[in-house]
Amino acid sequence: MTYRIAVVVGSLRRESFNRQLADTLAKLAPKEFEFVQVGIGDLPLYNQDDDANPSEAVKQLKTAIAGAQGVLFVTPEYNRSVPGVLKNAIDHASRPYGQSAWAGKPAAIVGISVGAIGTAVAQQHLRTILAYLDMPTLGQPEMFLQNKPGFFDNEDTKQFLQKFLDRFAQFVKEHADRVANR
Ligand code: FNR
Repeated sequence: MTYRIAVVVGSLRRESFNRQLADTLAKLAPKEFEFVQVGIGDLPLYNQDDDANPSEAVKQLKTAIAGAQGVLFVTPEYNRSVPGVLKNAIDHASRPYGQSAWAGKPAAIVGISVGAIGTAVAQQHLRTILAYLDMPTLGQPEMFLQNKPGFFDNEDTKQFLQKFLDRFAQFVKEHADRVANR
C-alpha cells in the first residue's frame, strides 16, 4: 500500500525555506510514502457565505486532504503564530460544519525560521487548532529548526529529518491499522 501525505506549506514566498524543507522531506520520504504538496495560494479569503458554493481551489484542497492518509504541516512563524494563509486554508477545509476534511487525519508539524526558537510558538498555536479539528498529532520528535548557512546540505540535518520521517511514517501506519480494525 502507498500512503499519501498531504503536505501543507504555510508560506507563499518564492524562496521559502519552509517549502525547501518540504521538498527535502519529500525526497527523504520512506518507501510506501508519497508526499504531495497542496496548493493554498489561490484560495479566496474564507467567507462563510460561500460554504454552499465553494470555489474550485477550495474543492481541490478538500479533495486532496480527504484522499490523504496523513497531513504534514510545514510552516513558518509569523508574529508568534501561524501565518494567515495557513489559517485561511485550515478554515476552508474545516467547513461546512460537519464536513471537515481534516477530522481524524493523523498529522505532524515541522517548521523552520531564521529565529532561534525555530517556530516553536507557532507550532503550539497550530497544535491547539489541530486538537479542535480532531487530528491526532505526533508529539515527538519536536522539529524546531533554525536556518543557518548550509543547513539543507548538511548530513546531520538529513539524519535528523530522516528520524522524524521514520517516526511520522510509523505514526500514520499505526493510525491506518487502527482505523482498518475498527
Ligand atoms: C516573520 N518572521 C518570524 N520569525 C520568527 O521566528 N518568529 C516570528 O514571529 C516571525 N514573525 C514574522 C512575521 C512576518 C510577517 C514575516 C514576513 C516574517 C521571520 C520568518 O521566520 C522568516 O521570514 C522566514 O524565512 C519565513 O519562512 P519562509 O517564507 O522562508 O518559509
